[in-house]
Amino acid sequence: MGKQRGLVIAGNWKENMTVEQAGQWLDEFNRLLSDSPLAEVNLRIVLCPSTTALYVVNEHIKRLSPLKDMAEKGLFAIGSQKISPSGQHNRTGEIGPDLLLNVGVQYVIIGHSEQREFMGETDQLIAERMQIACSHGLIPILCVGETADEYDAGETEKVLTRQLEVLRKCTDDQRKTIIIAYEPVWAIGTGRTPTPEDANKTIRFIKDKSSIPVVIYGGSVNDENAADFFSQPDIDGGLPGGASLNPNTFYRIVESASHLL
Ligand code: 13P
Repeated sequence: MGKQRGLVIAGNWKENMTVEQAGQWLDEFNRLLSDSPLAEVNLRIVLCPSTTALYVVNEHIKRLSPLKDMAEKGLFAIGSQKISPSGQHNRTGEIGPDLLLNVGVQYVIIGHSEQREFMGETDQLIAERMQIACSHGLIPILCVGETADEYDAGETEKVLTRQLEVLRKCTDDQRKTIIIAYEPVWAIGTGRTPTPEDANKTIRFIKDKSSIPVVIYGGSVNDENAADFFSQPDIDGGLPGGASLNPNTFYRIVESASHLL
């Protein structure tokens, strides 16, 4: 039974967690994992700290068991919230792929709606970041999703079709590793969510349009609704933001996914 292909649960810490808090979070999450069979299941856990905590998170994991063993098996990994669109080390304020690889980063969030909406992120830049990530062996978590106005106007599929064009230069091999996160903007940080059935329908549409096999759901995911989303046939995991800041809550989200495997 269950999802043979496995599930992905990625925590997006956004602008939160000092170095000290990140260490405490990892200690507690590791303690929870030590008492559970989770370390053995086909579930990828990805933690996306702020840039200032990437180095310390990577170093800290090396001192923890079972987290270190899970990291070695690819079951626990670090993601960055940004990546330079240039491979030339020449964009002040950006972080190149080699610097990310240097601190153990394996995944990178690209095209998050907060970057699109508040930082002027364009599809062109998103496409360039996708290429840089893929060509350096980093796994993109490409975020797509419609705003409340677009949702109300029935334009979800039109918007997603446009956003998915950033994939047009991605090879078939790259498409096998890329992860898409469907995050309706109106569900982010609001406590409002689509029904799991509606999220599943939209994710089915994304899979058909993009040929990307792994598509996860984000937007007010918490430990109470996670299982309802993850048990849908096409939803391959989740991208919680606020709920990932508490290691106990994040653990319960991961645990609810493990029950489906
Ligand atoms: P919330 O889970 O806080 O709604 O955030 C979702 C998100 O933006 C993840 O990328």
